Amino acid sequence: MTDPKKLEQCLETIKDVRSVRSYLDKPIEKEVLRNIVDCARMAPTARNVQPWEFVVITDKDLLGKLSEYVPQGAFIKDAPAAIIVFCHKNTEYFLEDGSAATQNILVSARFHDLKSCWIAGYQGAYFEKDKVPMCEGIPCTPIPDLHKMQRLIRELFGMPRDLELISVVSLGYSDENPPADKRSVDEVMHWNRFEEK
Ligand SMILES: Cc1cc2nc3c(=O)[nH]c(=O)nc-3n(C[C@H](O)[C@H](O)[C@H](O)COP(=O)(O)O)c2cc1C
Repeated sequence: MTDPKKLEQCLETIKDVRSVRSYLDKPIEKEVLRNIVDCARMAPTARNVQPWEFVVITDKDLLGKLSEYVPQGAFIKDAPAAIIVFCHKNTEYFLEDGSAATQNILVSARFHDLKSCWIAGYQGAYFEKDKVPMCEGIPCTPIPDLHKMQRLIRELFGMPRDLELISVVSLGYSDENPPADKRSVDEVMHWNRFEEK
């Protein structure tokens, strides 16, 4: 039987995964980082191809360089660690597979009392159409020079050309607890049919 207290703690931890972009100057233990990657590699993948490679960065110089390459990730330079998710691009669902692994990184990091931020590394074909909105009223924000950024990061870490950058996750301990700004469960949930709430 599931211990109700444990269950509640787990669910609260999952719900407490927020994007945090400022970190304490406190290193993350190697074993913790290894455990996070261990959780990442357990994510589901189409046909179980597991097309991923994870690069864990704790070197300050590399974190600094990485932050220069990622337009919306200047804060990476002050993080004690980052994990980059790469996937082999000659697989069918590499973006979905890499995204599932990225989410496992965020969640397992939170269980280790770490805060994190998912930083975009890839944009799908939907961005090739000009000015297509992502969602009603919210315009697309294409990453400027996406291909250059991906190439620079691949080269910085000596990654083979057939590996596609999927995401960069910054990690660190932090006192920041930003509030969740989410649509309510009642708004997003439908029973059997769209109109049934
Ligand atoms: C695919 C994806 C790309 C993202 N890219 C960035 C990014 O480049 N820079 C950044 O600061 N946050 C990025 N985020 C974090 C979002 O801004 C954040 O998840 C969103 O504002 C909701 O906040 P929350 O995660 O605290 O609930 C990204 C999140 C996702 C899922």
